Parts: sequence; C-alpha cells; structure tokens
Amino acid sequence: MPRPIIIDCDPGLDDAIALAMALRAPTLDVKAVTTSAGNQTPQKTLHNALGLLTLMQRQDVLVAGGAAKPLMRDLVIADYVHGDTGMGNTHLPAPDFQPVKQTAVELIADLLRTSSEPITLVVTGPMTNIALLLSQHSELKSKIERIVFMGGGMNAGNTTPVAEFNIYVDPEAAEIVLQSGVPLTMAGLNVTHQALVLPQDIERIRSINNPVAAAVASMLDFYLPLYLSHPRGLPGAAMHDPCTIAWLLAPELFESRELWVGVETQGQYTVGMTVVDEFGQNGKPANVEVLTHINRQGFIDLMVECVSRY
Ligand code: BDR
Ligand code: CA
Repeated sequence: MPRPIIIDCDPGLDDAIALAMALRAPTLDVKAVTTSAGNQTPQKTLHNALGLLTLMQRQDVLVAGGAAKPLMRDLVIADYVHGDTGMGNTHLPAPDFQPVKQTAVELIADLLRTSSEPITLVVTGPMTNIALLLSQHSELKSKIERIVFMGGGMNAGNTTPVAEFNIYVDPEAAEIVLQSGVPLTMAGLNVTHQALVLPQDIERIRSINNPVAAAVASMLDFYLPLYLSHPRGLPGAAMHDPCTIAWLLAPELFESRELWVGVETQGQYTVGMTVVDEFGQNGKPANVEVLTHINRQGFIDLMVECVSRY
C-alpha cells in the first residue's frame, strides 16, 4: 500500500522539485498539497502549487492555502533566492483547477480525522500551518504517523549564521512542532548541503525530455548560480526540500541520529537556531531523528528516476 502523505510547502524552486519527485512515486499517495507563506507571499505560493499540479497533471490532488503570516512575526520572504514569482524564470501553465474552500489547517484536520490509517506530514516551508493544526486539533496527533521536515541544521545557518530560513521565518511555530511529541524526521542544512546537484546533473535531467523534466532543469538553471557564487563555496545547488521526499522513498540513502532538538525563539543573535543536543548534554530525551548523511549519487539517480515518470 502506498504511504499516505500531505505536503505542506511554500513553492519555491526546491519545493517544486520535491513535488515533482513525490507526485508520480508509486510508493507515495499524496492526499493533499497545502501552502505556507515563506519563500514568497501566501498568494504566490498557493498559485505556484496549483500551477505545478497542473503541469504535473495531478489536478486530482486537494490543494488548500494556509496562514497568511507567521504566528507572531511579520513575514520574511526569500525572493532573492526564488525570484519575483517564486519560480525563478520558469513559466508554469495557468492553473486549471481551484483550491478547496477550506484552509490548510481545516483540510489537513479533515483528512487526518477521516483517514483509516495515520498520515505522514511532509513540511518544506515555515511550520505555521502545522503549529496551528497541532494547537487547534491536538486530539489528531495520534493520526499523524510522522512529520518529515526540511528545516534547521546542526550548527548551521543560511539566513543568519545560525538559523535556517524555514525555522527563522516562524521560530515559534517550529518550537511548537518540535516539542509536540509527534515523531519527527529533520532534513536540516547539514544533510541538504550534501544533496548537491552539479552542473552535469542538470544536463542529465534536461535530456529526459518531458515537460516536468524541462521545468526542473530550468529551475535548476536559475538556482545553481546562487550557490556557485555564495561564499560557502559549495560546488552545486543544495536540494533542501527534495531530501524529505528522498528519505520517504529511499531511507537507505541516509544516515541519521536520534537527538534532542529545540528552537531558539528569544536570542539576541540566535533567533531561529535549531539547538541540537549532539552529545546529550541537557539530559532531555531525543525528540527528532536528525538526518546526518546522504549518498549524493544515489539521491541524484532517484531524482532522475522520479522525474522520468512524467
Ligand atoms: C529552505 O528555505 C527555502 O528557501 C527553501 O525552499 C527550503 O525550504 C532552505 O533553507
Ligand atoms: Ca521550501
């Protein structure tokens, strides 16, 4: 039986690639795509999700828009990474279907409530919607199999020296999710910075020659130079959000550790930092499976396999 999942995302170039990997994977059953405010405004991330599902011919998947802003802060977007539309230079087809009338939280709650089996939540944007869900519908926690999220990192930041973007945008939401008691798998920067697409990988994807592969290659054309010109000095583009789907499809590509993780919400210099207790120094029990390593070549082969299905 395919694993039922709901993807809460803020597309966003790497969110789009994560969706492309998930939507034709035979071992995943994508019940819904919900959108968060993050990489772009909530209107644009919702519009992009609809356009991506139209491109991928998955108009049967339920779509709902989420919270307009973080729980307690103003929205910070990443147009400097994902462009004015959130899709770089890639033109998506105009959406040919509508989102449902419910909010993201209402839709996820309904799907959890009515599902005969627990559902896995995949979160690739700020955690606002999921924090609201857990706060407003705590009785549904047991219906969540696991939350697999892209966010944070062990001693790593990409928005501040210590904070990763998704957690930085809504640290209060992330802390609610991390301390919720729901099983969690974290794809943080320490692993996503190993999931690199190199220039020759983009050519391999382009040569697949279907509309989704062409869109993914065009997204990577926009995304790669940002990485190559960054002082961090990575030789390729970090596939942050696709790591969540890759872990669901092929966990054998990863190594991980069970660790305690909390989110800094008050620090003068450290807001949005994920504090990972690598050596058990605070005596708190582990709450997160932290992904630590990925087999890069295996990950690229998986991406190619997924995108070839269109
Ligand atoms: C995360 O931030 C966003 O810009 C990406 O889509 C990814 O979810 C990486 O820090
Ligand atoms: Ca994202």
